[in-house]
Amino acid sequence: MAELFNYACVDGVGIVTIDAPPVNTLGAATRAAVMQAMQLAWADDAAQAIIIACAGRTFFAGADIAEFATGHFADPDFITLFDAIENGPKPVIAAIHGTALGGGLELALHCHYRLAVPSAKLGLPEVNLGILPGAGGTQRLPRLVGVPVALDLITSGKPIKAAQALELGILDRLATEGQLQADALAFAKELIASGATAPRVRDRDDKIAPYRGKPEVFDAFRAQNARAFKGFKAPEAIIKAVQAAVESPNFDEGSKREQALFLELMNSPESKAQRHVFFAQRMTAKVPDVPADTPTRDLKRIGVIGAGTMGGGIAMNFLNIGLPVTLVELKQDALDRGVGVIRKNYENSAAKGRMTEAQVEQRMGLITPAIGLEALADVDLVIEAVFESMAVKQDVFTKLDAICKPGAILASNTSFLDLNEIAAVTKRPQDVIGLHFFSPANVMPLLEIVRGAKTDKSVLASALNIAKAIGKTPVVAGVCHGFIANRAMEPYMAEAEALVLEGASVLDIDRVIRDYGFAMGPFQMLDLIGLDVIGRDSTRKTVMSELVKRDRLGQKKNGGYYDYDAERKATLSPVALEVIAELAAEKGVAQRSFSDEELLGRLLYPVVNEGAKILEEKIASRPSDIDVALIMGYNWPVYRGGPMFWADLTGLPKIVAALRGFEATYGARYAPAALLVQLADAGKGFGSL
Ligand code: 3HC
Ligand code: NAI
Repeated sequence: MAELFNYACVDGVGIVTIDAPPVNTLGAATRAAVMQAMQLAWADDAAQAIIIACAGRTFFAGADIAEFATGHFADPDFITLFDAIENGPKPVIAAIHGTALGGGLELALHCHYRLAVPSAKLGLPEVNLGILPGAGGTQRLPRLVGVPVALDLITSGKPIKAAQALELGILDRLATEGQLQADALAFAKELIASGATAPRVRDRDDKIAPYRGKPEVFDAFRAQNARAFKGFKAPEAIIKAVQAAVESPNFDEGSKREQALFLELMNSPESKAQRHVFFAQRMTAKVPDVPADTPTRDLKRIGVIGAGTMGGGIAMNFLNIGLPVTLVELKQDALDRGVGVIRKNYENSAAKGRMTEAQVEQRMGLITPAIGLEALADVDLVIEAVFESMAVKQDVFTKLDAICKPGAILASNTSFLDLNEIAAVTKRPQDVIGLHFFSPANVMPLLEIVRGAKTDKSVLASALNIAKAIGKTPVVAGVCHGFIANRAMEPYMAEAEALVLEGASVLDIDRVIRDYGFAMGPFQMLDLIGLDVIGRDSTRKTVMSELVKRDRLGQKKNGGYYDYDAERKATLSPVALEVIAELAAEKGVAQRSFSDEELLGRLLYPVVNEGAKILEEKIASRPSDIDVALIMGYNWPVYRGGPMFWADLTGLPKIVAALRGFEATYGARYAPAALLVQLADAGKGFGSL
């Protein structure tokens, strides 16, 4: 264990340095190291004050999230260790760089003084893991910053910069960037010279006293955030814990309440799901046969073809990180319109105070608008976002092959088309890849990277790099119709259509999906994106295509499944009901009623089944990649952990049995995938893969 910490005494100050790469998580071994180093410092007669700092890229990143799965914390547990620091005989200073997060910040709150470099960030992100700060954070932070700020910081989980932490009273002072150790030492010596004591945050009352006997403050916060908190357990538990900090007869009672709430959350399915997602998101960039040291290409100049819905948003990702973008269109008016939309988006951000006018101009100045593909001769990466037509895309790629410099990466944003057929028209299929953004492309966090049969590993590694640079979570997919996210969600939309024809109500379907945790049901979503987007080209006669024929395009024109009043309040549309009844009669579909459970199974089990097929065909490397794709691409509720994790929690035998029931009634398309059956029979889950 010795290598996890270093202890030295300098000028009467004991310096404890913890070195647990990569991010100094406070797992059992690190906690033991902190305890051991502190014992040396306490016992060292030469040391009159103590500094706790970390080596490497950051201060403590919090608890080791993997330890939660064990259900308890090995000795020394957080409370024992942190109480020992707080109640120790010498003043302790936390010297913070990088990020002090979760248990890391809680450790600092048990120290008697805190200083940080300006680049440091501090936060309690536990809510993102479906838990609350369970090592004293909910009891101590309000005592430093007051109730409203504490509620806001802990329920949002958002880290704040050091300057703000200083202003709020979390920090005692800022250190000079790059001089943390020297400034911490000087601070310690000042404290010793002035005979400073070791004040404990737990003894403070001034910031919380004004909120005692004021439950309305907490109720108002609950009400204000009801929408954002819906479905999540942790925010409500956080509010209760902070309220306990204020209302409990003494500090220890409040702490007990925090502990009880923490344990309840730690064992909840919501938290298990969110912890799964934390690790799943960090896994997606690891591609089994593409080692981390795979050479990559330098992508400095970007080209985007098509300035429509997707092209504009795609371009913004690169402008935002300062890369120049050549934006190509067929005609001047389309180009002007596309550039105009980008400007409008930036100006909207500026109006909301999210960027300055100068930043708007700087980003706009990076665009080179152009007519004709010839302008792309010297870009390093070109992303095609033209119409979803194989002929059009093959034409574009044939021309790109002749125009682009050797080594340029040629990417397509196709949603469904066969990337190998697109690559085949070039003499450099190894340089062709899919970069599938989700709409709106400047906002949605997912980037599906489609690996063609001949895509070079360095091209894939470069795509993973650029995804990280523009702040997207990459998920790598093989070639098939719709790749991972669109393919897995196709059965869901098909089921929604089938169910209404069988007599299920549009309202019930949307409600069941919202209750599951999606922000909206399938019909609300279709009305929002516009029925014409999918319904216009439908080769089959569907409720959607019939609504489009009646010029009902959703919210944008005449309503769709719903009618909308001037305030956009929705009511079920009689026209939609008529269309559904007519089509059901025409197709001879028998009508019946459905329970909520049956509706949910019909809508979501086929998604799980499609996910299993995606795994069988090796389109996705691992089940958790499918979870990440649907959470980040389709807003699958994060506290369900994605379809594959949710399926494991539900129990695969139950899903297999339900699918077999659907198969018997409705036909082969519901037949459970071989992998699903195999796992269910073996008593295993997707997690075992
Ligand atoms: N537990 C376990 N592993 C962790 C971890 C944690 N708290 N934080 C990071 N890691 C792992 C990551 O999984 C990753 O592993 P890998 O290399 O095998 O994929 C590695 O450390 C590096 O992490 P990142 O790739 O995320 O590194 P970055 O430099 O991009 O980011 C960070 C660093 C900002 C610290 C980021 O890792 C992070 O946000 N970590 C989580 C912080 C957090 O949520 N803390 C609260 C934990 S809960 C808690 O403290 C409970 C307490 O109240 C009792
Ligand atoms: P769009 O119709 O809004 O934009 C396409 C643009 O490409 C038009 O402005 C058109 O003038 C231009 N264009 C066509 N041929 C061109 C050529 N040869 N050279 C230069 N410009 C040309 O279409 P949208 O929605 O942006 O879709 C583009 C691609 O992105 C499609 O492949 C689509 O499947 C995919 N996609 C769309 C999503 C969406 O939600 N709209 C989501 C993810 C992918």
